[in-house]
Amino acid sequence: MTSQQLDPEVEADLDVVVVGGCGHVGLPLAVALASRGSRVGIFDIDAAAVARVSRGELPFREDGLQELLAEALEKETLVASTDPATISRGDVVVVVVGTPVDEHLNPDPQQVTRAIRGVVDHYRDGQLVVLRSTVYPGVTANVERLFAKHGVAVDLSFCPERIAEGRAMTELFTLPQIVSGRTPEVRARAARLFGTLTDDIVELETEEAELAKLFTNSWRYLKFAAANQFYVMANDHGLDFERIRQAVIHEYPRAADLPGAGFAAGPCLLKDTMQLAAFTDNSFVLGHSAMLINEGLPLYLVTRLEQRLDLAEATVGLLGMAFKGESDDIRSSLSYKLRRILEFRAAEVLCTDPYVTTDDRLLPLEEVTARADVLVIGAPHATYRDLRTLAPDTEVVDIWNLLGEGTMA
Ligand SMILES: NC(=O)c1ccc[n+]([C@@H]2O[C@H](COP(=O)([O-])OP(=O)(O)OC[C@H]3O[C@@H](n4cnc5c(N)ncnc54)[C@H](O)[C@@H]3O)[C@@H](O)[C@H]2O)c1
Repeated sequence: MTSQQLDPEVEADLDVVVVGGCGHVGLPLAVALASRGSRVGIFDIDAAAVARVSRGELPFREDGLQELLAEALEKETLVASTDPATISRGDVVVVVVGTPVDEHLNPDPQQVTRAIRGVVDHYRDGQLVVLRSTVYPGVTANVERLFAKHGVAVDLSFCPERIAEGRAMTELFTLPQIVSGRTPEVRARAARLFGTLTDDIVELETEEAELAKLFTNSWRYLKFAAANQFYVMANDHGLDFERIRQAVIHEYPRAADLPGAGFAAGPCLLKDTMQLAAFTDNSFVLGHSAMLINEGLPLYLVTRLEQRLDLAEATVGLLGMAFKGESDDIRSSLSYKLRRILEFRAAEVLCTDPYVTTDDRLLPLEEVTARADVLVIGAPHATYRDLRTLAPDTEVVDIWNLLGEGTMA
């Protein structure tokens, strides 16, 4: 049965339905739209997350989201459900399911298409369908063919999300929004949707917009790799990269975007660089080089430790397991890669994180600092700035310069 046959029974009582709306991108978007007056529905297959969101609890940390979620539930402008029939209730449907690469770093270009195909009967003629997941180039055209095959006449648009986790509730209202679609009417419809969040709308052709998102994340990943390679160069010569970087960027705008050293990790940057690599038949030499540098940093740090202490006899304390500071998200965190290496090469590794709740092997910070011979800061949570009150004399490997004592390792 097609959605057209279901149509007469369905009333569009929601302005927007977010598919994948309990995720790191979907939930902030759903809540942001509700805060600007839209009636929003969430459809998500994660029943536990739907239950939490419906109770007003966040499934993950995100600054400023809790208050607006509570407000939306109170005003009844947001509902969450595991029922795919929710899709039919929306005038607009935003699809923002996860698009991870597999264990061999291959993208799966069918993820978004599958998420739609499985419930295609719930889509209706006349809906605006916005793809917001970061996709392998060509996915939007693929979804176009899927709807055509099932005889569902939707307006299809690809509008990438470019927020950084932790800053969603600011950036959704301030970042420019790229919108795309096959016709000016579709682009205008998408612009109206995002115009409730931001005034700055940038139009692109569909395939341009798909690449724009991948270029955005790959560019950031390349910059981190450049910084990390400079870090290794300086460190190998007994020089502190951060001191050099501060001199380079001082009153020198052309180098102002040189990042500090650090673990470049998380669910997006490497993944999207690898999507671009696959798209170019693995000829994205810069992307693969960036991967080697960024993913190689934990191993480099362990080797440096081995050069100056008897690591096999040492207890290492690893502070911060999330993929970045102030986050509880451990997806593709390099702290876990570091832990795996240390479990093999050190006597013992003790891990801690104030925010991560999904790892029952974590210990309190006080215990880790008391027992460790050497400490490594894996994620630069602000709370570790006070580390010296707990560990005045222990060596700390701090490539982030969180303690202000330099970045040498
Ligand atoms: N995390 C970020 O900071 C960020 C930023 C920009 C873009 N993106 C992109 O946004 C997309 C989503 O990323 P995320 O971090 O929010 O992922 P996520 O895993 O946190 O969220 C995805 C959500 O989709 C749900 N889901 C999965 N399959 C579904 C289906 N078939 N039907 C309904 N719901 C389904 C999951 O249960 C989950 O709640 C990815 O393409 C990612 O690359 C992420």
